[in-house]
Amino acid sequence: MHPEDDDPGAGLATAGRLARLYLDTLPGRAPARAPARFAPVPLPEEGVGAAEALDALWARHGHGFSGNPGPRYWAFISGGVTPAALAGDWLTAALDQNVQNFEDGPALNLEREALDLLRQLFALPEDFQGCCVTGGTMANFMGLAVGVQVLGRRRGIDVGRDGIAAMPDLRILSGEAHASIGKAAAMAGIGRGRIESLPRLPGREAVDPAALRARLAELGGRPVIVVGNAGTVTTGDFDDLGALGAIAREAGAWFHVDGAFGLFARIVDTHRHLTDGLELADSIASDAHKFLNVPQDSGFVFTRHPGAQAEIFKSISNYLPAPDGEPAVVQHLGPELSRRLRGLPIWATLHAYGRSGYAEMVARCIGLARSIGARIDGLPGFRLLAPVRYNVVCFELIDESGPVGEAETRAFLDRLTADGRLFIGPSIFLGRPCVRFAILNWRTGEADLDIAIEALNACRQAPPPAVTAE
Ligand SMILES: Cc1ncc(COP(=O)(O)O)c(C=O)c1O
Repeated sequence: MHPEDDDPGAGLATAGRLARLYLDTLPGRAPARAPARFAPVPLPEEGVGAAEALDALWARHGHGFSGNPGPRYWAFISGGVTPAALAGDWLTAALDQNVQNFEDGPALNLEREALDLLRQLFALPEDFQGCCVTGGTMANFMGLAVGVQVLGRRRGIDVGRDGIAAMPDLRILSGEAHASIGKAAAMAGIGRGRIESLPRLPGREAVDPAALRARLAELGGRPVIVVGNAGTVTTGDFDDLGALGAIAREAGAWFHVDGAFGLFARIVDTHRHLTDGLELADSIASDAHKFLNVPQDSGFVFTRHPGAQAEIFKSISNYLPAPDGEPAVVQHLGPELSRRLRGLPIWATLHAYGRSGYAEMVARCIGLARSIGARIDGLPGFRLLAPVRYNVVCFELIDESGPVGEAETRAFLDRLTADGRLFIGPSIFLGRPCVRFAILNWRTGEADLDIAIEALNACRQAPPPAVTAE
């Protein structure tokens, strides 16, 4: 079949039916399952059209899709998908607007509105300008890249033109920086080796501000990017952004904040204080596919140095015009040229549920995390390792002689994943193997906590799986 003979309505109807089927079965699907192995698919000579192709795809893979956006996928930092964000994402694909510039339609205006809605949601000062990207990693990358350009400019260096080699003494200082900071530093040509890990406060993942001050003094005016962490993955801890921001500013350093999921603490009255001082940031990275519950892949970054940003990200040619004043268009603002209208699902979900809908959802997730943290701490064989400050719970497994080792922790997690009721993961805290999870899905409720506790208990008591010879 050729595309012109294919009825788009039939394909959409099939997609709708299959999506519905998936969503209806989502609560019962195991949050994670080992992928099946298949023989390769031969490329068909004659195609079958959209509807049949989707049915064939579903027959082969449909039963295997895990409950990734479901209520008990708590590993990593993983959000769900709101109904409005899902519908908005579908519409985005149908419209297929290229958002890179203004010349051919209103897409960029819509995306700017979405970014400004986010700015309002987080009560950020008006000079913060947003840009949509694929996720937290790219948002961190952009923060570092713009930071390098600004630090270079202050020293008469144009990194966008001359490259990072022109700033051999650049350093990145952080505490519990997310792995994506290393990735971003490598991608930006800064190098992972230039990241320095600062001492933390006792028993915490938050940086000791005095250690930052001391290290900046030692570096004596060299170019430095300070990365503040609003929400660490293992314990959900927050750096004192006010203190770090003030120290960084005083030293002339760039202050980037990774708020991939922690930024959302700002919208809940009881937890807003965790991000106090965020206004001092030069750049802020966050994710829409985490607490905003927008489908992957969607993140955003706020920066307040648009000129330097365009110096890094501009793309000019005989057929692409140079930046002509502010605000810059996407082709000069972010890492991509052509890209989808990522702002649309964000716009849709923020209008569908508003500030209060999101505040209630984030507050509920925080409350659920706190509640299950307390319950886990009371279970035999488990001990909470850190207070539940936000939406992350971190605990260790114990027996009569104290904490169990890494192998037993791993075996417990393997049993739990195979059990199929809950998906959570391992980490290390204060040098000890631990288990951690985060709750940030609009679907998660009290009933899920009961299911999770039952699963945790059952898998803690079960003996390690027997090893059978093939
Ligand atoms: C604190 C933090 N920063 C950055 C990232 C990277 O985000 P993404 O996976 O969207 O690239 C994550 C992902 O979990 C995160 O938790």
